[in-house]
Amino acid sequence: MKNIFPSYIRVPLIFAFVFASLEYFIDSGEKPAFIEYPIVSLILGVFLFILVAIEIVFAAVDKVTYTFLSEEEKEQLKLEEALPFTESKFYKNLMNKLTRSKSIEQEADVMLDHDYDGIKELDNVLPPWWVYLFYACIIFSVVYLVRFHIVGDYTQAEEYEMAMVQAEKEHQEYLKNAPDLVNVDNVVLMTDAASIAEGKKAFESNNCFSCHGQNLQGGIGPNLTDKYWINGGGVKELFTIISEGSSKNPVMAPWKDVIKPTDIQKIASYILSMQGTNPDGAKDPEGAIWEEIAATPENVEVVTDSTNVE
Ligand code: HEC
Repeated sequence: MKNIFPSYIRVPLIFAFVFASLEYFIDSGEKPAFIEYPIVSLILGVFLFILVAIEIVFAAVDKVTYTFLSEEEKEQLKLEEALPFTESKFYKNLMNKLTRSKSIEQEADVMLDHDYDGIKELDNVLPPWWVYLFYACIIFSVVYLVRFHIVGDYTQAEEYEMAMVQAEKEHQEYLKNAPDLVNVDNVVLMTDAASIAEGKKAFESNNCFSCHGQNLQGGIGPNLTDKYWINGGGVKELFTIISEGSSKNPVMAPWKDVIKPTDIQKIASYILSMQGTNPDGAKDPEGAIWEEIAATPENVEVVTDSTNVE
């Protein structure tokens, strides 16, 4: 083993393997385990220290034993090191241990007495690699049996549920950071209370009321609670004007770089939920009654699906 992997490869390899296994087996949420649990970093640190210490000791012992070798033995060692890997002692020993196969010259030793019309049979032992695999299967099955059928850790149905919960969590997480799912082509009116409330919050936090009034009654900007609209009063029209601003009046600026599309959708839905509230101090109507425009077939806004686009 030593000749194939020098210590500067062996140590990082072993360390990486242990590190990866710890990360895999310790459930530490989103952060890596060694950050979430400092004790893990400590154990890894000690482990790395021991690995390096062992390497140093081995290297020292090797050096000392080498000086005690006779000239002949040194020659022998050099020859062995020069052999290709498949010819090396290490490889041959390993193969021999794993297969215990007999060479052709030794076949007579394992030949059975049977002779079926000239066809003879060898009595080879089971190859140890196969036997070890079989033992590993037995150990695995015992652990599995105890864990799932005796202790009853979780059933397949529960595993499915857990996976679904996890997927839902990841989905929500994804949606939070995926701003471009809503655009003018697929935006629909949201009617659920939570979205309307978020729309109201976003309307307020972006100071829309400074021009449109606390109750959307209007001010510098038009009243947003009546049926009259300068730029159209469907959810798509509202989405467009809030994102792109007004082409007729630059005072209404584009907001698409400031507010996420999903939030613009909620703001538009909030504004439309305030239709007909007729607040105090409502500004006189501006623009045209939207319903008239909506009456032409190509403008009809059919919102049958009240569910969230998300
Ligand atoms: C600086 C003042 C100002 C601010 C701030 C402002 N608006 Fe406006 N808004 C206007 C004006 C002026 C208009 C009229 C545009 C026009 O004549 O086309 C308007 C138009 C609108 C319209 C279309 C009304 C219609 O009749 O077509 C909507 C919807 C709207 N604003 C929503 C918002 C939202 C949401 C915000 C906050 C993100 C906001 N506005 C911030 C001034 C403002």
